[in-house]
Amino acid sequence: ATDVPVLITGETGTGKELIAKAIHAKSPRKHGPFIPINCGAFPEHLLETELFGHEKGAFTGAHRAKKGRIEMSHGGTLFLDEVGEIPLKMQVDLLRVLETKSFHRVGGTEEINVDFRILAATNRNLLEEINKGNFRQDFYYRLNVISLHIPPLRERPEDIPVLAEHFMRRYSRETNKDIDTITPEAMEVLKRYPWPGNVRELQNAIERAVVISKKRCLDVDEFSSLQVSQKGAGEAKSLEEIEKEHIEAMLRAHDWNISKTARALKINRVTLHKKIKKYGLKRSGQDQCKPDNSRKS
Ligand SMILES: Nc1ncnc2c1ncn2[C@@H]1O[C@H](COP(=O)(O)OP(=O)(O)OP(=O)(O)O)[C@@H](O)[C@H]1O
Ligand SMILES: [Mg+2]
Repeated sequence: ATDVPVLITGETGTGKELIAKAIHAKSPRKHGPFIPINCGAFPEHLLETELFGHEKGAFTGAHRAKKGRIEMSHGGTLFLDEVGEIPLKMQVDLLRVLETKSFHRVGGTEEINVDFRILAATNRNLLEEINKGNFRQDFYYRLNVISLHIPPLRERPEDIPVLAEHFMRRYSRETNKDIDTITPEAMEVLKRYPWPGNVRELQNAIERAVVISKKRCLDVDEFSSLQVSQKGAGEAKSLEEIEKEHIEAMLRAHDWNISKTARALKINRVTLHKKIKKYGLKRSGQDQCKPDNSRKS
């Protein structure tokens, strides 16, 4: 029963990959490989060869045979990240692999047997995608034998202090500073902020705060960027201001990953690039805030 598939759901940055790795590390397959593939990161034809591999001469430019991620996960775990992005046709192919535990490379005829466990993750609501005809029900049931939902950080604010202090210690150590406290006022700010980018955004905010802090503690000043975007929700603002702030928050939430941010905003990447330019948005963080080691206490 330890080979059961697990479908991990949750918003971006909630820790889905971290959980998948932990499940693998606790399983009897822990000495085998953990092979992740971000299914949203490849156009359809590349996703196919990434997953299934190809034989020499399978297509123009295939000068040599290549193993796919399915083959590489033999003896271990295949982690299908952003599984909701897999095109319907490939869902059929994958379902067959899961049922027969065998497949063939693109351009090949030899049946290759594989022994792997599947873990999958998505930030989409797959039941909705099934209703819209974007996801196959049979594939869904195959993946979702056990479902694990990770709630967004704003629904578990009690986790924020522990995580914040954990990241503070880690980045303090990494930057050779000796920051050891988050002031109660700063902690209030952290607990009130809605964290659209979840734990990843919290981690980045703490890293940035540690880098810019010239004191031995993290205070509200180090988290001013979080407060600005909250302040004056009821104030008169132009639509442009709201758009600018929202795009900025979403970029931060997605760690400035343009594809993910564009998808979340339901616009294309070109439009997003244009708006970043229009509003003069810049990534804040380490590159712009070098630690002032001379003033280290
Ligand atoms: N409970 C936790 N403790 C410590 N770090 C965490 C925790 N949860 C998440 N993180 C950290 O937050 C970051 C985001 O986690 P992860 O990549 O697993 O998220 P994800 O859900 O896969 O996000 P995405 O949907 O954007 O791919 C990672 O750096 C991870 O180490
Ligand atoms: Mg992930």
